[in-house]
Amino acid sequence: MRKPFIAANWKMNKTIGETKSFLDEFIPLVKDAKDVDIIIAPPFTSLGIASAMLKDTNIQLSAQDIFYEEKGAFTGEVSPVMLADAGCEHVIIGHSERRQYFHETDEIVNKKIKAARKQGLDVIFCIGESLEERESGKTLDVLEREVENGLKDVPADGIVVAYEPIWAIGTGKTATIEQAQEAHKYIRERLASIYGNKANEIRILYGGSVTPDNVDSLMACEDVDGALVGGASLKPDSFARIVKFKK
Ligand code: 13P
Repeated sequence: MRKPFIAANWKMNKTIGETKSFLDEFIPLVKDAKDVDIIIAPPFTSLGIASAMLKDTNIQLSAQDIFYEEKGAFTGEVSPVMLADAGCEHVIIGHSERRQYFHETDEIVNKKIKAARKQGLDVIFCIGESLEERESGKTLDVLEREVENGLKDVPADGIVVAYEPIWAIGTGKTATIEQAQEAHKYIRERLASIYGNKANEIRILYGGSVTPDNVDSLMACEDVDGALVGGASLKPDSFARIVKFKK
């Protein structure tokens, strides 16, 4: 049985004060939610306040990115040691916005995953095709390449995969249930070719315009084990409803 995993990716949103207001409202809303991993990934500047407020709650903390070196002359970057020290248990790696705007390659993503795991951080590893790739029939090839390159020489433990079709991110266009299940099943097959039976334990999240209105049907798909939520995670009531999805 794979435990559902519902994660909020706030992207570049919320000041420290806004993080505090969100958590003041959100923590009580989900305190009785059981049998689900609840994760919040605020921006770096809010990790401190979030870590303090999430202590002794059922909510775990994630960063949105990481650098692969431990320390040194890398202006602006944040190391695995620093994230663990700041209270993070998870880190999002390879988000399409990082790949698109900050030129992250599969090779960089792979280095980041290894560095995070070395420090004991769990990884939310993002993959997904662009609209152009989908329309030209390349979706499965892209997923195969991203899985194989991203997870090269990475053991299965501590890895969660997030399938985020780029055309569904922030657009209000969700993948259909059939598109989501097809992609997730294919990803699981690719994981099985690397990890064998252990692939059945790896959680695969769907991300891309997840809302309180579509989460139940997405979570009903056999290979959808959770959600990575952007826009709809910014409001406490909306994200709480997603956490409390109905199967
Ligand atoms: P939206 O939920 O805003 O489409 O964002 C999805 C996403 O990119 C989460 O990482």
